[in-house]
Formats: sequence, C-alpha cells, structure tokens
Amino acid sequence: MTTTLVTGANRGIGLELVRQLKARGDDVIAVLDDTGVRVIADIDVADDASVARLDEALGDVQLDVLVNNAGVLEPDGLGHLDLDAVRRQLEINAIGPLRVTAALLPRLHAGSKIALVTSRMGSIADNGSGGSYGYRMSKAALNMAGVTLARDLAGRGIAVVLLHPGMVATDMTARFGDPAGMQRAEDSAARLIARIDELTLATTGRFVHANGEPLPW
Ligand SMILES: NC(=O)c1ccc[n+]([C@@H]2O[C@H](COP(=O)([O-])OP(=O)(O)OC[C@H]3O[C@@H](n4cnc5c(N)ncnc54)[C@H](OP(=O)(O)O)[C@@H]3O)[C@@H](O)[C@H]2O)c1
Repeated sequence: MTTTLVTGANRGIGLELVRQLKARGDDVIAVLDDTGVRVIADIDVADDASVARLDEALGDVQLDVLVNNAGVLEPDGLGHLDLDAVRRQLEINAIGPLRVTAALLPRLHAGSKIALVTSRMGSIADNGSGGSYGYRMSKAALNMAGVTLARDLAGRGIAVVLLHPGMVATDMTARFGDPAGMQRAEDSAARLIARIDELTLATTGRFVHANGEPLPW
C-alpha cells in the first residue's frame, strides 16, 4: 500500500487529493481535517517547531509520496505592496515545502516521490501580466528548490515534480471571479494524482500543468 502525506489538506485542492487517494486505497496522512485518514492537525509549515512536531507525530512511518500542497496567496501590486506579506508568502510557499521535505526526508526511500504544488505564476517566462510580487516570487523560489531537490535526490532514487494545478475554484481564488469559469478541485486533484502516479526518475525535476503540459520556467 502506498503511504502518502499531504500538507494543507483541510480544504481546497489538498482536501480533494486526500479524499481521492483515500478512496483508491492509499494510506493517507493528512496534515489536517476529517476525511477518515490519519490526521495531524495545527501544523504551520512556516514554523520550525511545528514541523518538528509533525515529524515526531509520524512515529516510525515511512513515506512513499510527500505532497507539499499548503500555500497562500496575498494579492499585491506596485501601488499597494505589503512587504510583510511578501515575506510571509516566501516563508510559507517556498521555505515551508523545503522545511517539510528536509524534516521528513529520512522517511523517504528509493522509489519515493515528492510533489511540490507550485503555480504557473512562478514562471518567469510565462509572466505576461505582472503584479502579485509576493506570490510570484515565492513560487519561482519554490520551483528552484524543486529542481535542486530533484538533482540532489536522484542518486537516492527519489523523484520530484513541480505541479501547477490549473486555475481551480477554492478559497484562494474566490476573489478572482466566477468559480464556474474555473476548474473544480475534484478534477484538478484527479489530474494531479495522475501526474504523481506517472512520475519516475526519468522525468524528475519537471514543471508541469495538471493536464500534463510541460510549463516554461
Ligand atoms: N487554486 C488555484 O487556482 C491554484 C493555482 C495555482 C496554484 N495553487 C496552489 O495550490 C495549493 C493549494 O491551493 P488551494 O487553492 O487549495 O488553496 P486554499 O483553498 O486556500 O487552501 C490552502 C491550504 O494551505 C494551508 N496552509 C496555508 N498556510 C499554511 C501554513 N503556514 N502551514 C500549513 N498549512 C497552510 C491551508 O490551511 P488553513 O486552512 O489552516 O489555512 C489550506 O489547507 C497552494 O500551494 C496554491 O498556491 C492553487
């Protein structure tokens, strides 16, 4: 049985990932919520002591898949920059997944997989609209962390993928307009799971859309 840990699992895409992985029979550890899976609550990925508590709570569990999904978006722009919010997003979206991955690495083994839920907004090449400094910078930094992890962990047989879920109707995107024009979290989660399932060492270090399309850095 595959043991998968998902961060940010109490709502949105993370909750759907947990529901679908559990439904197909995976052993799922949700860092939060009430989905019939093992739950480890109140973990802040931006806090060293909290992540140490997560590690401790896992006991002797070994992980086949680690999904770093937790993230925040605090919209900003040149006229209304909030540098504390920029720092927060870097801490949660970029440093958080690195902190969690480093802390849980001893639990991964040859054949394990790490998925980092990033965003197309972290693509430098694809940035056609500007704005969202904190979010864009944090996801670009996450992308670099992901490729570096892929290089460092290939020798240990651990594959890494950077996944853009698409534009998905969740609390995060509620401010951006009609959810009917966005993907449903259920559909995005199903595609993300497919991408994680197909990940191998041969494809490690890629940045892909949930629909499988490769994305530019
Ligand atoms: N929705 C989209 O269109 C979209 C597009 C591109 C990328 N993404 C990425 O997809 C991931 C999931 O987004 P979503 O749309 O599902 O967002 P969401 O509905 O806002 O959920 C965010 C999740 O992250 C958790 N989280 C936030 N800060 C945390 C922290 N410091 N420590 C631990 N958990 C924390 C939240 O927990 P709490 O409830 O405790 O706050 C929640 O479970 C994020 O990484 C996001 O950047 C989403």
